[in-house]
Amino acid sequence: MQDDVSKNENSNLSLSVTEGTGGIILSLLVAADENNVIGKDNQLPWHLPNDLKYFKNLTWAMPILMGRKTFESIGKALPGRKSIVITRNKNWQQTEVDVVYSIDEAIELAKSYDVKEIFVIGGAEIFNTAFEKAHRIYLTRIHHQFEGDVYFPVVNEKEWRLIKEHRCTKDEKNAFDHSFQVWKRK
Ligand SMILES: NC(=O)c1ccc[n+]([C@@H]2O[C@H](COP(=O)([O-])OP(=O)(O)OC[C@H]3O[C@@H](n4cnc5c(N)ncnc54)[C@H](OP(=O)(O)O)[C@@H]3O)[C@@H](O)[C@H]2O)c1
Repeated sequence: MQDDVSKNENSNLSLSVTEGTGGIILSLLVAADENNVIGKDNQLPWHLPNDLKYFKNLTWAMPILMGRKTFESIGKALPGRKSIVITRNKNWQQTEVDVVYSIDEAIELAKSYDVKEIFVIGGAEIFNTAFEKAHRIYLTRIHHQFEGDVYFPVVNEKEWRLIKEHRCTKDEKNAFDHSFQVWKRK
């Protein structure tokens, strides 16, 4: 399912829509609870293997941009992806990741990889900054309410259109009902 969404919608996003990013689709990829909680104590508040699988399929071989805190919370570069970490600290360095100091710089880097899409994978600060520029949001809505200390911005239906939704019910491995949604900027 994920591949179909990506291919169909890539072709539907005209170059003029992505002009501000030089033709690259800027996508946010996030899991949020019913109140838009996305994290607590620098960790995800849930463990949802189904979402990890979805994340892996979507981002495989693609550039993923993350805030320095999210990178440190993951603790390593994710295999099979081109990891880009954003920081304001010019002395920050890590092997196996590219380091940038702005979103525009990350987009320029993605262009050099010859891909059509870059995925911003969090956390809250970088989601907030990238939100206004983003063309697409892949939102896994977890149908539960968690305690949290970081939030995703509200996806306002005046500005965003839901173009795909796939609901999954909880099972023995996934403790919460959840929906894979794809939103496109109107
Ligand atoms: N549910 C989800 O989908 C999801 C996904 C990812 C993360 N999370 C959660 O989100 C939380 C982390 O989010 P967070 O907001 O605390 O941190 P974050 O966004 O991961 O990282 C923030 C850091 O990124 C750098 N940064 C951010 N904006 C920048 C900009 N415009 N230019 C240059 N550098 C910039 C700064 O690094 P320096 O301080 O080094 O300058 C800043 O301190 C954790 O709880 C994590 O588990 C949830």
